[in-house]
Amino acid sequence: MADFFRLDGKIALITGAASGIGEATAHTFSEAGAEVLVVDIDGPKAEAVARSLPMSQAFRCDITSEKEVESLFAGIPRLDMVVNCAGIGLVGSIEETGLADFQRLFRVNVDGSFLVTRAAIPLLKKVRGSVLNIGSVAGLVGVKRRFAYCATKGAITAMTRQLAVEYPKELRVNCIAPGTVDSPFVEGYLEKYHSHEKERVRAELNERQPLGRLGQPEEIAKLALYICSPAADFMNGSIVAIDGGWTAA
Ligand SMILES: NC(=O)c1ccc[n+]([C@@H]2O[C@H](COP(=O)([O-])OP(=O)(O)OC[C@H]3O[C@@H](n4cnc5c(N)ncnc54)[C@H](O)[C@@H]3O)[C@@H](O)[C@H]2O)c1
Repeated sequence: MADFFRLDGKIALITGAASGIGEATAHTFSEAGAEVLVVDIDGPKAEAVARSLPMSQAFRCDITSEKEVESLFAGIPRLDMVVNCAGIGLVGSIEETGLADFQRLFRVNVDGSFLVTRAAIPLLKKVRGSVLNIGSVAGLVGVKRRFAYCATKGAITAMTRQLAVEYPKELRVNCIAPGTVDSPFVEGYLEKYHSHEKERVRAELNERQPLGRLGQPEEIAKLALYICSPAADFMNGSIVAIDGGWTAA
């Protein structure tokens, strides 16, 4: 039974793998036997993660740069799965959102996934590989003062479904939509927007999810392992919420 969840002999490229959900996914995939390509704009952190994993390599790459993504893939002869996890957030209603910030969010969260996925597809088609996008509940429901973030994650949901329809037999494309997860992403948000009232806002974030707590990166990573493993061979075009019940309401 456990063999269904093994990734022995597989090569997994994970963007944003130097931190949070991507880092936890790198560890989980490595424990399952995969060779992990740790891709991140933060080179030293990517190196540190890769050093902690057997059979792993680090690549510093800004996924918003077509040139950098092309040269990254020029050195990758074989690939079984891509996890598009790199992403950034922004707080603000539409009236509080400047065009430059809106475009910055799209560049990282949408253009980045587009460029990496497009570059990976020829390799993935050869092995009936897998693309896993890390979306968000913000791509499924409206979240107050997350106008730009919701827009980018809605695009990720739509891109997942479109690709699943385009390549139904050549590869699998799925999306995880996490609720709020206890990662440096959330810590950064608390520091930037609520440095004097962190504990109060942290309590609000916990309450937003009916289960009453944040998710842990490792919990998202375990779902990522299932979706990328042979056990999920029939899963294609799925958007899977993992959010302590948030979107059930
Ligand atoms: N933490 C949450 O509450 C939460 C909830 C839902 C969805 N998500 C999504 O999960 C993903 C990972 O979030 P996290 O919480 O682990 O965040 P994180 O900030 O801990 O990690 C994100 C990583 O992406 C990297 N990155 C940013 N821009 C990049 C670029 N241009 N090129 C390459 N790498 C880049 C960062 O250096 C960082 O290592 C994001 O897409 C985020 O939107 C997070």
